[in-house]
Amino acid sequence: MASDRRFAIEQVSDRNLALELVRVTESAAVACSRWMGLGKKNEADGAAVTAMRHAFDTVEIDGTVVIGEGEMDEAPMLYIGEKVGCGGPGMDIAVDPLEGTNLCAKGGPNALSVIALAERGNFLHAPDIYMDKIAVGGGLPAGVVDLDAPIEENMKNLARAKGCAVTELVACILDRERHAEKIARLRALGSRIVLISDGDVAAAIATSQPDSGVDICLGIGGAPEGVLTAAALRCVGGQMQGRLMFENAEQIERARSMGIADPHRKFDITDMARGRVMFAATGVTDGAMLRGVHRSGRGAVTHSVVMRSQSGTIRYIEAYHVSPGANGTRS
Ligand code: FBP
Repeated sequence: MASDRRFAIEQVSDRNLALELVRVTESAAVACSRWMGLGKKNEADGAAVTAMRHAFDTVEIDGTVVIGEGEMDEAPMLYIGEKVGCGGPGMDIAVDPLEGTNLCAKGGPNALSVIALAERGNFLHAPDIYMDKIAVGGGLPAGVVDLDAPIEENMKNLARAKGCAVTELVACILDRERHAEKIARLRALGSRIVLISDGDVAAAIATSQPDSGVDICLGIGGAPEGVLTAAALRCVGGQMQGRLMFENAEQIERARSMGIADPHRKFDITDMARGRVMFAATGVTDGAMLRGVHRSGRGAVTHSVVMRSQSGTIRYIEAYHVSPGANGTRS
């Protein structure tokens, strides 16, 4: 009986916390949306970071940033190890106040403000280097794709699982020189491809959305983004694997110092985001999953998603933020 009650209380506080997270991503998205298309990615990022940091002040957690804006000596706020929140359960936090800084600076699609949260010790402490990743959505047989399998085998297995031809599948991949061979092999198979300029978090989440037109997201992108993606896909039953890509011995040492015992291993989704995970994102620019921030003289409209791994709930939230003084509110 007592344990039932504790479970119910935990559920309520988890739900409330998930909604608090949306307020944090909303703040960051509204702040950086002011810079959309102005060609100033650092200013946009700075606005998102500052707003997100302040918004955390009222969230009832004892939070530690494990995926953030870099080291304490290189980032003024939301650096790795920074404590955030006003007290409560011990949580690890992964943030990207503006995922897709170039997208925001150019007014391109799918820039997001993103947070993932888990109980302490449940996120991979990924250094800010590259990660080779492969992600597919929910409802597929376990192990349908494998990071170490040839791309042709993965596409054929995915097509079989989805009951379609390889030529009907759509693969999403960052448009980078390093992916030239993968893209050529996908084209040789006849699979359709979406080449994106930035933003592989939104692209990977798209694999789990029935109408997104994306079946698989693969290729090398940021490792911190990989952890955020794993958290999101955990909530929707998607699959993902990743492997850190090192350029020198110093990076390997850095990964070890962050607690990664075997830095060269292949990480499965639960190696990157374990336990009860929450994920929230607010659109900065218009995208397939979320509309961006739409501003007017009266305020701003935001579109967000919040998901919890425990319940599997995916909740979309449209919020109207009234500017101080507008609509008869107090200024
Ligand atoms: P930023 O928001 O830090 O600019 O990252 C955008 C992004 O496109 C990520 O989505 C992706 O994982 C990474 O950069 C790819 O890195 P690179 O631009 O070096 O190929």
